[in-house]
Amino acid sequence: MPKSLSIALLGQKFMGRAHSNAWSQVPRFFEDVRLRPVLHTVCGRDERELRAFAKRWGWGRTTTDWRTIAADEEVDLVDVGTPNDLHAEQSIAMLEAGKHVACEKPLAGTLADARAMRDAARRAKRSRTFVWFNYRRCPAVALAHRLVRQGKLGRIRHVRATYLQSWGGPEVPLLWRFRKKHAGSGAHGDLNAHIVDMARFVTGDEITEVNGAVAKTFVTERTVPGTRKKGRSDVDDCVLFLATFKGGAVASFEASRLAPGHQNRNTLELNGEKGSLRFDFEEMNLLRYLDATASAATQGWTRIMCTQAEHHPYARHWWPDAHVIGYEHGFTNMAADICRALSGRRPEVPLPDFADAYETQRVLEAALIAAKERCAVKLREVK
Ligand SMILES: NC(=O)c1ccc[n+]([C@@H]2O[C@H](COP(=O)([O-])OP(=O)(O)OC[C@H]3O[C@@H](n4cnc5c(N)ncnc54)[C@H](O)[C@@H]3O)[C@@H](O)[C@H]2O)c1
Repeated sequence: MPKSLSIALLGQKFMGRAHSNAWSQVPRFFEDVRLRPVLHTVCGRDERELRAFAKRWGWGRTTTDWRTIAADEEVDLVDVGTPNDLHAEQSIAMLEAGKHVACEKPLAGTLADARAMRDAARRAKRSRTFVWFNYRRCPAVALAHRLVRQGKLGRIRHVRATYLQSWGGPEVPLLWRFRKKHAGSGAHGDLNAHIVDMARFVTGDEITEVNGAVAKTFVTERTVPGTRKKGRSDVDDCVLFLATFKGGAVASFEASRLAPGHQNRNTLELNGEKGSLRFDFEEMNLLRYLDATASAATQGWTRIMCTQAEHHPYARHWWPDAHVIGYEHGFTNMAADICRALSGRRPEVPLPDFADAYETQRVLEAALIAAKERCAVKLREVK
């Protein structure tokens, strides 16, 4: 009988659904995982909605007061899926109560909160921390990480990352995502957080300087939900920045919620001295690879379908070879890796913890400073 991991989930909407599904699927698809997730308690703000949610997803208990979870000795891991401004208070309280914490990205809305979380994780010697940078666990991205480690690209010269969406027009109400006090930033913390993490993960390298940045808010007023009143949207709709890696590669990052034609286009392209790799989440099962050492007569992009059980990360846990997977699988792959890590086994590819996500947050902060001050910012100046 496998040991169990009792989970409490904070937040029951978008990520609440994604995470509930992920924890539930682990024992069904990951036979080698020895820790069995138990959906112990779910916490949200609306008691009625919460009860219906718990019934649908199989959570044992509900609460509208997240603090009670810290005192519950039955809970092993707290999964934080609330708005960004709550991550620090909730995660730190749970770490101080001896729980493991898996927190959504960005680590926090502000660098100060992120630092406090990193420090709390350092103090909590018996707890492990994880951050839901789920795109690392798309098989194609995990494969890119492996190919770079194997030296397939040689020295990397260019990193080109975009995360473009189009849902953020003026018709969208003033959700928490458009308010700085809740979100910290807009497209930047939401989307650039993912591609900065992916770029660091796939290259295995660190950004040492943000060379310049621009941030823009196009839609400054939105309707306050449930009213006819207008309120100010005080976060960016897009942030673009240039950066340099320690190994010498130069990089561009662009995040927008106002890019019609792009729905959830999370792309990463690397160009190295021996070849190139390209990923686009809108075709998430594919990784494109170009071998620049091949004869010019036949050289060209190879379209790799990352569904071969024997060769591609995570593929053996899902369907027979050649059957594609989707958005939710990245979360399940991550939940399985968290269970592996907590039972003393290695995750399929490295898991980001609070210290790792803090490094991503420093890059985001450097970009915001660069945009505001119209200057380059060295990462060693952002602590
Ligand atoms: N990994 C990803 O790709 C990804 C995708 C979307 C969102 N996120 C992150 O997940 C987090 C949540 O985003 P979302 O899209 O699920 O938001 P959401 O608005 O859909 O849900 C937020 C949830 O938090 C709950 N909540 C708010 N205040 C609370 C409180 N005080 N106590 C308990 N619950 C409270 C709400 O009731 C709601 O259930 C954010 O940090 C966001 O950046 C990550």
